[in-house]
Amino acid sequence: MQSKTAVIDFTMQSDKTEGLHVAIVMDGNGRWATRRGLPRVAGHRAGVAALRRVVERAPDLEIATLTVYAFSSDNWRRPRHEVQGIFWLMRVYLRLELGKLCQRGVRLQFIGRRDRLPLALLLDLAQAESATAHGAGLHLRVAVDYSSRDSIAEAAASAVNRLSLDLPVCTQLMRRALTEALTSEAGDVDLLIRTGGEKRLSDFLLWETAYAELHFVDRLWPDFDAADLDAALAEFSRRERRFGAVPRAMHTPIPSLGGAQ
Ligand code: FPP
Repeated sequence: MQSKTAVIDFTMQSDKTEGLHVAIVMDGNGRWATRRGLPRVAGHRAGVAALRRVVERAPDLEIATLTVYAFSSDNWRRPRHEVQGIFWLMRVYLRLELGKLCQRGVRLQFIGRRDRLPLALLLDLAQAESATAHGAGLHLRVAVDYSSRDSIAEAAASAVNRLSLDLPVCTQLMRRALTEALTSEAGDVDLLIRTGGEKRLSDFLLWETAYAELHFVDRLWPDFDAADLDAALAEFSRRERRFGAVPRAMHTPIPSLGGAQ
């Protein structure tokens, strides 16, 4: 049963006009399975069901962009059969859900490295992106073979490339080029949720979470449901976001600077 959390007024909580950007570290699949005496991949399969629930609920909560951490570049260190199991589940999810995602106007995008993924998966990811490219509803970004440090290093390299014209590489130009390379269309994260009780970012969206509100929950990802998402958004709506400024009540306009700021 879904809870009746009121839709939040995101305009008070975000500098965006089109809805919130929520990011999720879907942690706890392995423990969920182990506690049940099941192989870890069974936890990932239950994790896919949780993802489906969250994707269905997100548009009701003014979430315009949802970025989920499905496979980090460090996850290659896991046993081969677990890695293959996760990739297989992604392909099954796309096979089973693509039609529904298109109908609901979900736009799928995969972020992360593409050069190390198995060809069959790569083709499915590309096909899903092109099939949903015109979706005007939820922008669902799935991080696969993703490392935030890698993407920052990559952006720095591409900024250097762009500036190695004849110009002397001036610091300000470099800063601007780097910032542009790092700022995706999805923009900054407003709220980052991590399930499974750990309190860390694990190399996920380090640039984009500069001012994100962080929400850590003990619940394991396969148990996470629409009511948990509602609760996270409700708590987020009570946070005061100041972006380095002062609380609203303390904000005194400076007349000599033209009145209200
Ligand atoms: C972290 O839990 C979870 C992952 C590394 C994989 C998440 C993958 C999915 C939910 C499937 C992705 C599928 C699609 C369609 C995007 P863990 O295994 O680290 O859990 P633990 O901390 O309990 O061991």
